[in-house]
Amino acid sequence: MNERRPPARPALPATAAPLSAPAAAPAAKSVAKSTGPSSFVVSLCRPGFETAVITELGGFGLRMAFRRPGLVSFKADQQLSSSDVRQLSTIFSRRLGLAAGPFESESAAIDRAVELASSVGARVFALTREGLLDDDPRDLVDAEAMVVQELIDERYQSPPADVDAPVVEVICVDGSGDDGRFIVIKAISGLLSCPGGMPSFDVPAASPSRGFRNLQDAVACFGLSLGIDDIAVDVGAAPGGVAWALVQRGVRVMTIDTNPLEAELAKHPLVKQLCIAVEKIDLRWLPPATFLFLDLNQPPRSALAALAPIAERLLPTLRSAVLTLKLGARVSLDEIPHWAAIIRRMFPGFDLEIAQLPSNKSDISVGLRRRR
Ligand SMILES: C[S@@+](CC[C@H](N)C(=O)[O-])C[C@H]1O[C@@H](n2cnc3c(N)ncnc32)[C@H](O)[C@@H]1O
Repeated sequence: MNERRPPARPALPATAAPLSAPAAAPAAKSVAKSTGPSSFVVSLCRPGFETAVITELGGFGLRMAFRRPGLVSFKADQQLSSSDVRQLSTIFSRRLGLAAGPFESESAAIDRAVELASSVGARVFALTREGLLDDDPRDLVDAEAMVVQELIDERYQSPPADVDAPVVEVICVDGSGDDGRFIVIKAISGLLSCPGGMPSFDVPAASPSRGFRNLQDAVACFGLSLGIDDIAVDVGAAPGGVAWALVQRGVRVMTIDTNPLEAELAKHPLVKQLCIAVEKIDLRWLPPATFLFLDLNQPPRSALAALAPIAERLLPTLRSAVLTLKLGARVSLDEIPHWAAIIRRMFPGFDLEIAQLPSNKSDISVGLRRRR
């Protein structure tokens, strides 16, 4: 998966050719070539965060071409290759891809998707904008998309599911059927195994909260591994969806919250509960944790200040961490590099990735993994 870094970069990283530079000769099967002469990049994001994506990708010299809730397309001055698109690290894009189209009918879009998928051995996902508008990624593949998917499947046999296999997505952005407007994208970044780059996890009835999905999304998107050898400290844990997801994996958890955990979870043999303000804990109470999760309903400044002594204490044993940053109703992109710098200092020797996970709302998540 791409590393996503904070926005406000003036240009591509030094290793990459700036987008305004003359195009390098495309490889025989480069995506830019196989998606046609268009130089369009499409970003799928949480509806309402289109402006954030436009700002992020504008920093790479891409101009917004058109936008719909949950979808923004961009025009580059030249054709782009897959590796060019991989350099476009963004926090707010769940999926980035090179676009073909738009297509004014379902059949034209399907023809193109099948042609493109056949040429690169890709799996094909069909999505509709109705799905993109929904809060719950389970609905991303809705009835309309299922019809398109069936039509594709009749004509094209997708290779077996493989997290690294190329993916082509057919997205209905307006209308439906042969009155619709479609975009076909060759997916470049975002979880390739999931439609729209969005993992989809049902929240089990037994989970005390939707925090379950935060943990599952973070594991999938940041590529974490958590199991019976792990010990977690969960800061801001109540009522306990994250902790519940952890114990399902066999992880031992110490929870910290002023509020109590849901009663059943509190009795679980793998759970130890500290019902106390995080600022008041005695660091000697903490176990030698391998995983740290932060989800305080506080602004980043105070949440990170409260976390700092805990992070320092756990640093020798930690392997990974996930920190939820509540950006508030008025998201300020400018603040993110500031918080990222504080977190980098707090976790020396860790790789940092920032993403708006499907389960994040106005918040974002920071994934940290100890560098090997
Ligand atoms: C969004 S909720 C956490 C949800 C939880 N992660 C889950 O999976 O169910 C935020 C929590 O932060 C806790 N919190 C806020 N400030 C706190 C503090 N200073 N000390 C301890 N807990 C705090 C609140 O009591 C609340 O339960």
